[in-house]
Formats: sequence, C-alpha cells, structure tokens
Amino acid sequence: MLKGKDLLGLYGASAEEICEILDRTAQMKALLLRGGKAESVLRGCALVTLFYENSTRTRTSFELAGKYLGAAEVNVSAASSSVQKGETLIDTGRTLDDMKIDFIAIRHPLAGAPKLLAENVHASVINAGDGMNEHPTQALLDMFTMREKFGGIKGLKVAILGDIKHSRVAKSNLFGLTKLGAEVYMYAPRTLMPRDIEKLGAHVCSSMEEAIEGANCIMGLRIQLERQKGGLFPSLSEYSKFYGVKDGMLGRAAKGAIVMHPGPVNRGIELTPSLIDGESSVINEQVTNGLATRMALLSLLREYREKNL
Ligand code: CP
Repeated sequence: MLKGKDLLGLYGASAEEICEILDRTAQMKALLLRGGKAESVLRGCALVTLFYENSTRTRTSFELAGKYLGAAEVNVSAASSSVQKGETLIDTGRTLDDMKIDFIAIRHPLAGAPKLLAENVHASVINAGDGMNEHPTQALLDMFTMREKFGGIKGLKVAILGDIKHSRVAKSNLFGLTKLGAEVYMYAPRTLMPRDIEKLGAHVCSSMEEAIEGANCIMGLRIQLERQKGGLFPSLSEYSKFYGVKDGMLGRAAKGAIVMHPGPVNRGIELTPSLIDGESSVINEQVTNGLATRMALLSLLREYREKNL
C-alpha cells in the first residue's frame, strides 16, 4: 500500500513503496504482453494529463495507461488552456478538481510545481517531470527494466553519463537506485555536474572509463539545451567527441551490460547510433515498461484513494 495520495518524487519514497510499484508493474506488463486490458481497474475514475512542457513518451503512456484500465482520460495542454489567460496553477488544479477527477499527471518547468498542486487539490498528483528536480515514473521504469534484466537491483553498478545538472531523470534514479542497494556512478563535464551530488549518494567519476568500468547499466542522458543559458560546453560536436559514449567503451562494462536512455535521444551526441540500436540497448523496452509502470502506479493510487479518502 502506498503511503500517500500523490507520487511527487523518489526522494521521499520508501524502498517498500518502490518495490510495490515494481511488483505491480510486472503484473501490468504481463497483462500488456497478453494483449489484455483491465478496464475494471480504474472504472469510474478520471485522469487529466496537465503538461506545461513537451512530451511524447510520458504523456502518451499516462493517457494509454488510463484508457487500458478503464478511466476517462483528458489532456490539458498549457499552450491551449486558460493558463494562457493568466490562470494560476492552483486555480487550474482546483478547476479540474471541481470536475471530480481522480488523478492529475503534471509536467512543469518549475521544480516543486507538482507539490504545490498536490497540496491544493483532492486529486492524486503524479509528478511527470518538474524542472531539474525529479521524474519519478521515468526512474521507476528504468529500475523495472534493470530488475527484469538482472533479477534485482541490489549490487548493480549503474553509470549515468551526460547532462546530470539539468536532469530530473538522473536525480530520481539516484534516489531510487540507492534505496534499493545499487551503486550509482556519474560522469559529466564539470559544468554539467551538480555540486555536492556525492552527498546524495553518487560516486562522481573523473573519467568516462572510470564510470563505465564493470558497469551493468550504462545510462546516457539527453543534453537539455532548453534549460541551459549557454556557455556550459563549447559545441555539440565537441561535447559528443569528449563526452558521448562510443561503441568501443562497452567492452569495459560488465558482461551482459545494458545501454539505456530515457529519450528523446540526440542520435550521435549522447550515444552512437550503433549503441542506440545495438543488441545491448534496452531503449525500446524502456518505452513499453513506461506504459506498464504508469498502469501500475494508477492502480495502486486508486487502491490508496479507496481505502483512505
Ligand atoms: N523520457 C521522457 O520523459 O520522454 P518525454 O519527454 O517524451 O515524455
């Protein structure tokens, strides 16, 4: 049983809650692979996806997750909503609440926006990415993918490479993975490494080789140009040359290592096309697992709401 009505991040989630979501994700994935839907799970519920930033994977998978489990589902895009007329986030949330909805999956450029919304609505709020803070459902699907491949998380070495400073995916993975006993190694240009990240449990590496040596999982991150004010690295081609993961580097990783990326990928910048499309890549499986993860989370939040609200 989850301990609250919302999922705002993995910093505040317990290992037990994370494992419960991963276990339920396995059930949802089995359902998906059988080609099944379970429309009774969220029958009578309504889900709103409220996105103030672009998305393909997260928004679509939340919407499909709601539909496959029988919820009514509506998207509110900030670009075409009353946000453009000056409506505040809290007023938007309360307006949706007045329509008796059950879940809001929100993506917002400002860290903390989902928490503010959660404190002001009756609906369960799911953080679908807030600024540079957290993207908990992405980390959950990443952990599920690792658990599927290796049978568990404890003891895995996970190398997270690239624009860590601007990455909510890196932070949620760090919180979730360390809670389940993995070791997280990070490598980035100095300008793209957050200060004091080691205090949160990361091993900060001084070379790509150090990060990848013996790693079970190699996770590339997208360069988040939209969050940078410029000047953090000379050019994309130089970034790719010195900080992109190249084919030969996989030889340093552990036997059976997997290549991951949350997407969208800048081909040839963070990872070479042959790594993205190669045998070790699980990037496509991450997408399928994202749908199962969001189905699992919605079903668990419904159970919480039925027992507690
Ligand atoms: N990984 C991820 O959040 O992708 P989208 O931006 O397409 O949702």
